Amino acid sequence: MALRLAPSVLNADLANLAEQVAAVGDAADWVHLDVMDGHFVPNLTFGPPVVAALRRHNDAFFDCHLMVSDPVALLPALAEARVQLVSMHVEALDDPGRALAAAADHDVRAGLALRPRTPLDAVLPWLDRLDLVLPMTVEPGFGGQAFMADQLPKIAAARRAIDATGRAVALEVDGGVNAETIDACRRAGADVFVVGSAIFEAEDPGAAAKRFKERLRHAPR
Ligand code: DX5
Ligand code: ZN
Repeated sequence: MALRLAPSVLNADLANLAEQVAAVGDAADWVHLDVMDGHFVPNLTFGPPVVAALRRHNDAFFDCHLMVSDPVALLPALAEARVQLVSMHVEALDDPGRALAAAADHDVRAGLALRPRTPLDAVLPWLDRLDLVLPMTVEPGFGGQAFMADQLPKIAAARRAIDATGRAVALEVDGGVNAETIDACRRAGADVFVVGSAIFEAEDPGAAAKRFKERLRHAPR
């Protein structure tokens, strides 16, 4: 199982988005794009038009984390921007099955994300249809928050549930992941690591991303 690095541009210089993404290019397995609507979370970032504009500069794997009240409504435009994967918050979905079907209709891989307080049980019925599970390790909405170590048992439980399916479901961790916390996430069973401020608030984001990537490459299995 390869360990993937997904730099999050939330705390990057968003006025130079294409350059910032290019700077981490070699080290980024996925580019993590935090779409927020000012309703599901109190912050407002960018939506499909900006993702589509970024796509014109970059061919990377776009991992779109949708912190919005109606993620299904965004799927057509995100598919048009050739987003490869969307994570929808299970708390935002009345009918996760319908949302997963809509993603499949648009040929976009689908994950379900959970707020820290949402029990893992909320996504377990859908595991056999998911490409990714994302248990958040901060309250979604802002970068640069402290990692919630009390979420590690949930990540470990997600790993056990995924392994029991025998399916290749990615287990992504997002929020406060940095040089101090990434190993605990890996030991708990995460295999996709979203790193925001620890990369983009570093002196040299490209070098910081490379250090995280090397660390994952040499991590014990
Ligand atoms: C928070 C976002 C994260 C955030 C991570 O709601 O989903 O992706 O950008 O940033 P750091 O790594 O700074 O916690
Ligand atoms: Zn995110």
